Amino acid sequence: MSQEKIIDFFNKCAPYWDEWAIRKDDILVQLFDNAKITAGIDVLDIACGTGFLFSDYIKRNVHSVTAIDLSPEMVRIAREKNKKLYNNTQQTTSSENYPYIKIICGDAQTYQFDQQFDVAMIFNAFPHFMEPEKIITATAKNLKYGGRIAISHDMGRQELDHHHQKKASEISIPLLHQDDLVKLMTPYFDIDVVVATTDMFQVSGTKK
Ligand SMILES: C[S@@+](CC[C@H](N)C(=O)[O-])C[C@H]1O[C@@H](n2cnc3c(N)ncnc32)[C@H](O)[C@@H]1O
Repeated sequence: MSQEKIIDFFNKCAPYWDEWAIRKDDILVQLFDNAKITAGIDVLDIACGTGFLFSDYIKRNVHSVTAIDLSPEMVRIAREKNKKLYNNTQQTTSSENYPYIKIICGDAQTYQFDQQFDVAMIFNAFPHFMEPEKIITATAKNLKYGGRIAISHDMGRQELDHHHQKKASEISIPLLHQDDLVKLMTPYFDIDVVVATTDMFQVSGTKK
């Protein structure tokens, strides 16, 4: 699978992405709690898309967000969204707490970041990494010692695989079973969260 196909697919989706997105706030809270997204931390948002999670990071008063995505159109919209969110918060008392948000267009598997992070969130994107071990090892390298990875979905495996079969079969692989994912991650991470229900999926743990 060439990355050009992934880029092309998501460039075409980008203008509609926010319209299509369904926010499941109760699930997002659980995914963020399990990932330990808390005040003052440095977050790496891997495959950030249009910045769907930016407002959630802001609410949690994180120190910084570094967001990376392969699709230039997704990144363009994410940058616009960041500007709007920043301007909105200028009108509130929380403006001084607005995190530093840096948005990079690049491949999260190979990009050389100039810092390490407390939490790496991979939200609704893991099946687009065709060689899962590649993004797992890269993420381990990009986290601080004791930093957390959170491979997260706001839907269950069945719904997700069905969704990908319909629209994105060429640019995704089926979601790994949680036991296989844990095996793949265990050389680098102590896994302490495994959730695989009908409406959410998450495997998360701390860097060894
Ligand atoms: C299903 S979208 C999810 C976007 C966002 N996380 C959200 O929930 O709205 C998957 C994203 O993964 C990105 N992506 C795929 N492969 C990537 C890679 N190697 N590095 C960075 N981003 C990648 C795509 O460009 C796309 O924006």
